[in-house]
Amino acid sequence: MKISLSGKWALVTGSTRGIGQQIALGLARCGANVIVHGRSEAAAAQTVELLAELPVSVEVVAGELSSVEGVESIIEQVKAKVGVIDILYNNAAISHEGQSIFEQSRELWDRVFQVNVHALIRLCQAFAPGMQERKWGRIVNLTSGIADQPDLAVYSVSKAAVDKFSRDLSTAVKDDNVLVNYVDPGWLKTDLGGPDAWDEVTTVLPGALVPVLLPDGGPTGRHYAAQDYKVLGE
Ligand SMILES: NC(=O)c1ccc[n+]([C@@H]2O[C@H](COP(=O)([O-])OP(=O)(O)OC[C@H]3O[C@@H](n4cnc5c(N)ncnc54)[C@H](OP(=O)(O)O)[C@@H]3O)[C@@H](O)[C@H]2O)c1
Repeated sequence: MKISLSGKWALVTGSTRGIGQQIALGLARCGANVIVHGRSEAAAAQTVELLAELPVSVEVVAGELSSVEGVESIIEQVKAKVGVIDILYNNAAISHEGQSIFEQSRELWDRVFQVNVHALIRLCQAFAPGMQERKWGRIVNLTSGIADQPDLAVYSVSKAAVDKFSRDLSTAVKDDNVLVNYVDPGWLKTDLGGPDAWDEVTTVLPGALVPVLLPDGGPTGRHYAAQDYKVLGE
């Protein structure tokens, strides 16, 4: 059975480059219309160019996830441009320089949690109710397999919060055919992952699409590992 996302609208945060760009392309290849997001319209240009080769509609929203106002602006732009969305892919996140767990400042914790946790929660709150009303929705949140790296505790704890929030949200919306899952992409060569990462960014596909392509009534509140679906030879 070939599953099509034709006619669905997907917002992919942080889709100007890296993993988010791959996810945007993967969703579009499945027929979804895509809203590309980055901090500026200019940053989105490459992804928009890649998507232009596919028979889907594309919009761009620009805005900071690092401020409450920026997140609200992104929500307003999405509503103004497409109205409602069917797929919310919370991909964007930031990491930080490694430093002793005893020296990670309150300012650092606030900064990372604003982008990685508070912004993600707010986007879910803004768009999940519309999915519930229409009885179809897929929300996917990017997590990480990071472990035993206390120098990066701010980042890793923010991802633990994403996992827990995803599970709680999944319970809240499961009766309305809105599936909420979280994906570990693997360690990939991106600006965030760095050049020493194990795998090319392209290997996040097709695994990252699995939680979007789940059938109605499918698994929710689950952890997915994109590398489990890596195409052999890549
Ligand atoms: N790469 C890995 O090995 C790895 C491993 C585990 C998990 N992950 C997770 O995978 C996701 C994507 O990572 P990546 O490696 O693709 O990252 P990346 O290459 O650094 O790309 C980050 C994306 O997020 C956007 N972004 C960053 N800060 C933002 C902000 N303050 N406001 C709005 N947008 C912002 C960037 O937009 P601009 O272009 O406008 O800056 C860019 O599109 C993240 O959730 C990350 O934690 C990655």
